Formats: sequence, structure tokens, C-alpha cells
Amino acid sequence: MKSILVIGSQWGDEGKGKITNIFSSKADIVVRYQGGNNAGHTVKFNGLEFHLQTIPSGIFNKNTLNILGNGMVINPLALYEEMQKLIAAGFDCTNLVISTRAHVDLEYHLMLDGLNEASLKENKIGTTKKGIGPTYTDKVARTGIRFCDFIDDDFPTIYKEHLTSKNAEIVRLGGEPIDYETSLRKYINVINFLKPFVKDTIDILEKAKEANKKILFEGAQGTMLDVDFGTYPYVTSSNCTAGGAITGSGIGLGYIEGAVAIIKAYTTRVGEGPFVTELHDEIGSTIREKAHEYGVVTKRPRRIGWLDLVQLKYSRNVNGFKYAALMLLDVLGNIGDIKVCTHYKLNGKVIDYLPASLKDLYKATPVYETFPGWTEDISKATKFEELPKNAQNFVKFIENYLKIKFVIISVGPDQKETIQVEDIF
Ligand code: GDP
Ligand code: IMO
Ligand code: MG
Repeated sequence: MKSILVIGSQWGDEGKGKITNIFSSKADIVVRYQGGNNAGHTVKFNGLEFHLQTIPSGIFNKNTLNILGNGMVINPLALYEEMQKLIAAGFDCTNLVISTRAHVDLEYHLMLDGLNEASLKENKIGTTKKGIGPTYTDKVARTGIRFCDFIDDDFPTIYKEHLTSKNAEIVRLGGEPIDYETSLRKYINVINFLKPFVKDTIDILEKAKEANKKILFEGAQGTMLDVDFGTYPYVTSSNCTAGGAITGSGIGLGYIEGAVAIIKAYTTRVGEGPFVTELHDEIGSTIREKAHEYGVVTKRPRRIGWLDLVQLKYSRNVNGFKYAALMLLDVLGNIGDIKVCTHYKLNGKVIDYLPASLKDLYKATPVYETFPGWTEDISKATKFEELPKNAQNFVKFIENYLKIKFVIISVGPDQKETIQVEDIF
């Protein structure tokens, strides 16, 4: 395929960074199309480990252009710091471009994120407090600031106007107003540094299409955090699903040929909201410690549960993927029997679809199929046939249920710990 989409199929943290980095060695361009530094994508190779938040996971390949698409909300101060860390590590970031149309996540957005969460009390979303929701709110309310305006000479005036009205909101919510001069000063240096990176990415993508270039779209978050398809309102504020790649990049119809869904062999979620297969027992804690399931961005312990095929079937339907990568399979070794949820029980009925109502999702209980586990270390496996029979059966069951093909099976965090079943990109 000349163009492919890497998409989170669950509640995020499925291993999108690892797979994007692997595929990006063959990509001419990698595009992030939504979200911002609420994402935390881990990339491990050659004894190095990076946690990328705003920058695409193709940055380590010098010949790959990395685009921050128009659908993103970008905190320029955080982006500057992330770039400095990469530059210090020897990755000069000259292969990075920021869309003129991407929205700017500013100091007042971060403050409002925290204040909104505090005002929700026990009904809080559990956001990353990176200002993502407030920045998208401004975008939709047509009161946002885009990168083309951020690097414009008029920015100080525009910022003053916006800050005045935002400060009123901050004070109303019980916060301290932001001082204009101090805040502006932080941005001025960063604007001068970032200016050369801000470009018309629509034009870049158009030229890439004409030249038949290989383009990879790196989704952030996951399907169940999508503002339309997720467990609303316990979601993020963007479209993390396949459609978001079109609106968040300007690639247009037809060029993206398919998607690879990134599927964790169990389920995790950070923040509040329903989670039908959540584990509150020893097995949940064992998995959390074994895989170090703590948020990259907020360091919060991730909630753990068994794989949920009802949720994944829904994810397949809304994204339309045929291919997938199965991640963290090694973590399920040595934990005894493994469970997979195939149906939900709701109001005495067995159902195989995902209800929209949160009330129903909180009430639904999982119906499980149990598989015998394995004790062998699988992290050195390089072929599907080298996996223990019980692991093979587990993988095949998921493929058959979802009618998809696992083209990659990941057996460890490092780039090398990967079984490539089929080469599709
Ligand atoms: P992303 O947000 O989807 O990129 O995923 P994160 O980086 O937030 O979380 C995935 C975590 O799992 C990271 O710590 C990865 O290093 C780790 N990881 C990825 N694939 C595997 C795997 O196959 N096995 C194990 N044990 N860890 C993995
Ligand atoms: P990656 O790309 C997991 C969650 C937050 C919260 C909800 C809304 O690493 O998979 P936000 O700050 O976006 O308004 O928070 O979404 N969340 C993520 N959970 N992985 C992520 O990104 C996430 N980005 C946001 O925990 O529940
Ligand atoms: Mg993550």
C-alpha cells in the first residue's frame, strides 16, 4: 500500500508509536492529524527510548518528512521542549513541518482545562490537563488562534484580545488571571524558533501525491476516546478514528488505501468512564506491573481489563480496518488462563453490540471465553510458528471473530521484538 493509517483501536496506548516508527522507515511522510501533547507514544530502538507527545514517531528517520497536520492542537512551548530534547539526542528535527492551519494550545487553555475538571468534581473526565478540550472548543466556536496567526507580527495584539476575555472566564471559575506581558514573553522566543517550520502542508501533501509518495498517518488516542464514537463524554475532543485522517490532514479522498489497527492483547484505559471488562483483582495488578502500565503523559496507573471483542468489532466497523497489529502479547504469558469477552449481558439479554448509552455500558457485564495460557518466553519469537500453540490459538480466535488479519505480532517493546507476518506497506 502506498498510503496507510495507523489507528488506535481501543482507549489509546496500544503501541501506535512502536508500529509507526517501524513503518516509517519505508514512509516518505508521516502525518499526525489530531490531538496534541495529550498523546504519549513510546519508541524503543538501538538501546534508546523516546516518549513523543506532539512530534510524529517517524522523526528518527532522517529521510522521512514529519507533518503536524491542521487537525492537531499544538502547544508551542511544549513542542519547543520536545524538539530540544530530540536535537540534544542527535535528531535535528529539520524533517519536521507544522501546518499553518493547526490550532495553538495556549497557556489559558491549559488553565481552563484544570479549572473545568475541578468544577466537574466527581464527574470529572480525567483529562491530561494539557488544554486539549478548551483548544478544540475555541476552534469549533471560531475563537481559536492558528499557527499562521501565531507567527504573524500581529500576534501580540490578537493574544491580548483573547487573553482579556479568557482571563474573565478564568476568574469566574476561581483561577488567577494570566499576566499578559509575562505570558507573551514566553512565546516570542519560541515563535522565532518555530517560524521556519510552519508551512502550507496541503501543498506539500499535494506534491507528494503527484509524486506517488508513501504516506503514513499516525493516529493518536484511540477509537473509544473519539468525540463521535467513544464513550462520550469520557472522550477526548477530536476524531481519532479513520475519518479524522482526512479532515485533519487535507489529504482528500482516495489516497489512503487502508488502516492497520493497533490492538493491545488486553485492554487499558486512563481517566474516567465505563470499562466493561475492567479487572479489579490480582491479575489486573500483575498485568499493570509486568507491562508497566502507567501513563506516559500523566504517570497515572492505567486501568486494566481483558480483551473486549464487542468493543473491537465496533472499532473495526467505524474505522473499516482489515489489517491489525497485535501488541504486548508477551505480557499475557505466565498469568494462567486468559479471558476474552465475546458478548455483553445487558438487562438479562446477551448482546454482541456496543450500546451508546453510558447507563447501559455501566450496567453491561462481560461474557467470556477462556483460553489456556502459556509459560514460555515469547519475546525472541520471529515467526508466528515459533509461538506456543496456546498463543497461536488465542491469536487465531481474535482474527476469526473480527474477520481481520494480524500482519504484525509484537512480543516486546523494542523494535526488534516484532513478528512481521505480512509486509503490507
Ligand atoms: P501509544 O500511545 O499507542 O504509542 O502507546 P504507549 O507508548 O503509550 O504505550 C505502549 C507501551 O507498551 C509502551 O511502554 C511501549 O514501550 C510498550 N510496548 C509496545 N509494544 C509492546 C510489546 O509488544 N510488549 C511489551 N511488553 N511492551 C510493549
Ligand atoms: P495516546 O496517543 C490514553 C484520555 C485521558 C482522558 C481523556 C480526555 O498515547 O494513545 P484529554 O486530555 O485528551 O482531554 O483527555 O482521554 N487520553 C488518553 N488516554 N492515551 C492517550 O493518547 C490519551 N490521550 C488522552 O486520559 O481520559
Ligand atoms: Mg500513549
